[in-house]
Amino acid sequence: MPRLFTAIEIPTSLAQRLSILRAGLSGARWIDPENYHLTLRFIGDVDGIIARDFTHALGEIDLPSFDLRLEGLDSFGGRKPRALFARVAPSEGLEALRRANDRAAREAGVPPEGRNYMPHVTLARLRGARPDAVARYLEGVGWMQSQPFAVERFVLYSSRNSIGGGPYVIEAEFPLSA
Ligand code: 2AM
Repeated sequence: MPRLFTAIEIPTSLAQRLSILRAGLSGARWIDPENYHLTLRFIGDVDGIIARDFTHALGEIDLPSFDLRLEGLDSFGGRKPRALFARVAPSEGLEALRRANDRAAREAGVPPEGRNYMPHVTLARLRGARPDAVARYLEGVGWMQSQPFAVERFVLYSSRNSIGGGPYVIEAEFPLSA
């Protein structure tokens, strides 16, 4: 059973710039820049029929390309920090694409998403990082904002069964219209 999710890829030039942030926080397991992505819809482990139906429904999505920008770093987990991520600037194009991905999942019989959607790019998983150290790290980085980048396609990724984490494999690509 493949473990699947759909995502937007992060351009190499932006990934390289983000990779400068990969230092100075004890307890961080930094994500390899080639594995940075923005998840649209997490699917998880599904059988081949659902995977096929989901892929088919994704192929029916007909939406225009749009620009995205990353703005600001933050952490998940509060007093028990578990991940460091880049926020994504609000975008109607992204919202429409996320809704379409959700619809495709529903049509394929994927169970509803358990967690609230908050677009983000995970930069590190945190284990044993102290909350004050995370706060200091975030202060040290300060406000960051990326140049806008064009989202011209999204992809269906698989990751290692049940374990998750990279490297991710592109199973299918879905272009957005110009
Ligand atoms: P994360 O980076 O915040 O963990 C592959 O696991 C991708 O799907 C990751 O970007 C992960 O987000 C996201 N994802 C969303 N919901 C998930 C879930 N319930 N379990 C694992 N990953 C999930």
